[in-house]
Amino acid sequence: MTSYEPVQTSNRILMGPGPSNVHPRVLTAMATPLVGHLDPEFLAIMDQTQEMLRELFGTTNRLTIPVSGTGSSGMEAALCNVLEPGDEALICVNGVFGERMSDIVGRCGAELIRIDAPWGRIIPPEEVKAALQQCNPKVVAIVHAETSTGILQPLTEIGQLVREHGALFLVDTVTSLAGAHVGVDEHLIDICYSGTQKCLSCPPGLAPITFGPRALEAIHRRKTKVQSWYLDMTMIERYWGEDRSYHHTAPISMAYAFNEALRIILTEGLETRYARHERHSAALKAGLTAMGLELLAQEGYRAPMLTTVGIPDGVEDLVIRRRLLQEYNLELGGGLGDFKGKAWRVGLMGESCTQSNVFLLLSALEKLLSESGYTVQPGASLSAAAETYL
Ligand SMILES: Cc1ncc(COP(=O)(O)O)c(C=O)c1O
Repeated sequence: MTSYEPVQTSNRILMGPGPSNVHPRVLTAMATPLVGHLDPEFLAIMDQTQEMLRELFGTTNRLTIPVSGTGSSGMEAALCNVLEPGDEALICVNGVFGERMSDIVGRCGAELIRIDAPWGRIIPPEEVKAALQQCNPKVVAIVHAETSTGILQPLTEIGQLVREHGALFLVDTVTSLAGAHVGVDEHLIDICYSGTQKCLSCPPGLAPITFGPRALEAIHRRKTKVQSWYLDMTMIERYWGEDRSYHHTAPISMAYAFNEALRIILTEGLETRYARHERHSAALKAGLTAMGLELLAQEGYRAPMLTTVGIPDGVEDLVIRRRLLQEYNLELGGGLGDFKGKAWRVGLMGESCTQSNVFLLLSALEKLLSESGYTVQPGASLSAAAETYL
């Protein structure tokens, strides 16, 4: 008889674009005995989760829930619930995830209008303003932290422009939520989704999402059914609302994990958590720059939780990442799309966002890069990082 091995993995230091490391309390919560998805104990957990999630999103929206599925299910749910065939959607594209939203718009049968910005640059609000003078979209969508480029997009002005125009403002916060201020109500965001595996430091598997009153009205005014049965909020809201009617079996263990991750986040305090991401990101960026490496995201708009750094000429992307994994047990992300083979993506997200991880990566890179023929001044990156903590 064949004997199959049990699952066994190394306890990696996760410094890529996600997943990030998970707090042991979250893993322990996942081992809590199962109850049914309509058990009163589970319903109480759902209520508490919604309350904590509203606090994290900065919203009073009633429909604020985790969708069953990864961040992309949140993206799909956000778009397909409000878009009907024939609607116009204005999508801001400056990386992989704006592209993904554009793809979904087409699949909804809606008409796609794009604003494109070069990779590593933000979408300027003036361009959104100019575009809104030429079209009448139902939805304007943008990515807050573009994980493929390391940009953190300012939202205030665009939110106001979209509201003045009467469209719905849809924002992807898969990478930013719990690592930087999102402020759904403050930024006039009508639909906002995220993922659990980045700054929330929970395993991948749920997509927190919130729909404001204007978005709900658009959903309830639809002339056609939502294309996706599984992500149809008109049915899902009945399970999360007073009806508690069955739609699909909730992923119970993930719900436990998510609840615990939210408790950890709110206990740390949102402002403290955002400041921690800023602090370690500043140290990392100072260290990488002191090593002579180039940061690829537009200055002034660099995301704290994800840094894109250019790979020096003559250095092999895969050799360095393989050695980081084998010799340091550390995962770094490779470039995507336009940045494939040209950039590394360094994540400092949630539990992975620590001072010791910053110093470990900088010292490892100094060694591995110099062994690859790239000239580094030993210790320079560590001193530069240390100075930011003084
Ligand atoms: C900004 C952004 N949006 C959407 C997604 C899709 O999330 P998932 O891979 O969890 O489906 C990601 C994943 O990296 C992301 O970074």
